[in-house]
Amino acid sequence: MTTTTATTTVLQLSGVRAGFGSQTIIHGIDLVVPEGQVTGIFGLNGAGKSVLLKVIAGVVPIWGGRIELLSTDITRMLPERRVALGMAHVPQGRQVFGSLSVEQNLRVGAYTLRRRDKSAYAANLQRVFDTFPRLAERRRQPAGTLSGGEQAMLAVGRALINDPKVVLIDEPSAGLAPAVVEDLLDVLLEVRRLGLTMLLVEQNIRFGLRLSDSACLLQKGRIVYSGDTAELDQDRLATYLGVGRLLASDLAAGLAATNPRRRKKTTG
Ligand SMILES: Nc1ncnc2c1ncn2[C@@H]1O[C@H](COP(=O)(O)OP(=O)(O)O)[C@@H](O)[C@H]1O
Ligand SMILES: [Mg+2]
Repeated sequence: MTTTTATTTVLQLSGVRAGFGSQTIIHGIDLVVPEGQVTGIFGLNGAGKSVLLKVIAGVVPIWGGRIELLSTDITRMLPERRVALGMAHVPQGRQVFGSLSVEQNLRVGAYTLRRRDKSAYAANLQRVFDTFPRLAERRRQPAGTLSGGEQAMLAVGRALINDPKVVLIDEPSAGLAPAVVEDLLDVLLEVRRLGLTMLLVEQNIRFGLRLSDSACLLQKGRIVYSGDTAELDQDRLATYLGVGRLLASDLAAGLAATNPRRRKKTTG
């Protein structure tokens, strides 16, 4: 009954170190991102979450250790080659091009794909519009006129257009009103159901835990806990995330209610 099929590792980090000047920010991170799952990285402001994603994307130089994408060593690879191999990065702050239309933003995201395969681009564009109907309605509108939530969808859509093997998403909920965060959560839960592999960084723990299959807690550039999200009880939340006991118990209750974990990797 419980024979588990071997899960493919999409991304693997071993002993990754990085920093700026003489200051080490990332102190030897080991991390495994399994296919079809959402791996969440949580931690306080300044813990090194964004720097870690940038090191994985190749936009901040690595000092030591090794990064593999689907068993290919990408440790010293240029960012654009990582993209061509199937990595997408949605940076913190979204960074859509405000004066370009929604569709033009998606075209920019698909730059390498369009060069390789025009018909795949058309199909993927349609898939993004199917996933985000609001982007389809606004395809000719300048991205700068979109609401914050729609810009967040556009940033995610731009990552999805290359049909990536893994998406690195940095704080998609940051700066959004609570109602919009709920909308975005629905969209990302749908994206998750499609089976996308994600490495998600969030400061909004409630939002992030509802999306994540497993959680890594980052403290001053070190992973201090990693495990199934379902196993994060209120004690661990209180201990590792420094959230108050009341909020922790509220979060744990929410987790139990909203996470019938999709352990569909098990076959019988
Ligand atoms: N370009 C940079 N140059 C120097 N220090 C940086 C740079 N980017 C980030 N840092 C420092 O690295 C630490 C981690 O930052 P960051 O990864 O952005 O934190 P967070 O977990 O909030 O995303 C912080 O102390 C920050 O000041
Ligand atoms: Mg950050």
